[in-house]
Amino acid sequence: MEVENLYFPTLRPRRLRGSETLRRMVRENLLTVDDLIYPMFVIYGEEVANPISSMPGVCQYSVDKLLPAVGEVVELGIPAIILFGIPDVKDEKGSGAYAADGIVQEAIRAIKKEYPDLLVITDVCLCEFTSHGHCGIVHEGDVLNDPTLEFLARTALSHVEAGADMVAPSDMMDGRVRAIREKLDDNGYSKIPIMAYSAKYSSAFYGPFREAAESAPQFGDRRSYQMDPPNSDEAIKETLLDIEEGADIVMVKPALAYMDIIRRLKDEFTYPVAAYNVSGEYSMIKAAAEKGWIDEQAVVMEMLTGMKRAGADLILTYFAKDAAKWLKDR
Ligand code: PBG
Repeated sequence: MEVENLYFPTLRPRRLRGSETLRRMVRENLLTVDDLIYPMFVIYGEEVANPISSMPGVCQYSVDKLLPAVGEVVELGIPAIILFGIPDVKDEKGSGAYAADGIVQEAIRAIKKEYPDLLVITDVCLCEFTSHGHCGIVHEGDVLNDPTLEFLARTALSHVEAGADMVAPSDMMDGRVRAIREKLDDNGYSKIPIMAYSAKYSSAFYGPFREAAESAPQFGDRRSYQMDPPNSDEAIKETLLDIEEGADIVMVKPALAYMDIIRRLKDEFTYPVAAYNVSGEYSMIKAAAEKGWIDEQAVVMEMLTGMKRAGADLILTYFAKDAAKWLKDR
């Protein structure tokens, strides 16, 4: 085709996109396996591997089945997992959360024995363990803040006593980071870091997780403790408080609809920022990929790299194993 040049731009960004070699050289953000944290669910029983229907590829495992699954994570070079537990009995005060022989505590001991170098992070919350499914102590329909703190602190301590390397409070009660920090320090665990779910929004994207963790609230919703999605300055306030209370890593959750918040935290603070690529974000991609509507690998890598570009230093994602494989194949 004959084309006539009417213009001659002198500034040509395309020069640096001319070959894959050149693109590689000027690439600004890279996802690596070291950035990944893989969430896993542990449940009582033996030989249990319950697939989560809304999260293809994700299972609830009993400890015996969890171990080989963790082995796969280690084999792929992923540095850390975050553990969630499903108890056999739930009660008003979520006592399974801080029982020395609770499901999470059992799992930690088994994992650390077999894989001492894997960093085991635990989600510190009550919602999987309470009969009402809320993240705190409930009285007359209210989720009480201050009485909940002691239970969260006990939960964190029991995880650390079982061998957890890091604790991650996800409840969004005021003052929980300080309560946990003090409890750990008082018991000789001043070296254990806290990764706080600092800007955790009340999100519809947690839907599939609540199937996996069996933690849907039995009445009401979480809007009186998790953040209101339209808010941005409030994320700074929450994060500042968590840092003042002793958080070592701060988190934004969910990730995809909150990339601006990830960037704000990265710019505002000098703490590592983690992004939680949550269950609903995983399920959407899985569903579209199953229908053949998107290229799963390309979309996942673009999404995770986008989180890095937004400012995430760490990414908690159900795609961690896939991403680690794809990074290896490159
Ligand atoms: C516990 C907790 C939740 C998630 C992580 N920790 C659920 C919730 O707050 O309802 C969500 C994770 C996901 O959706 O992948 N409070």
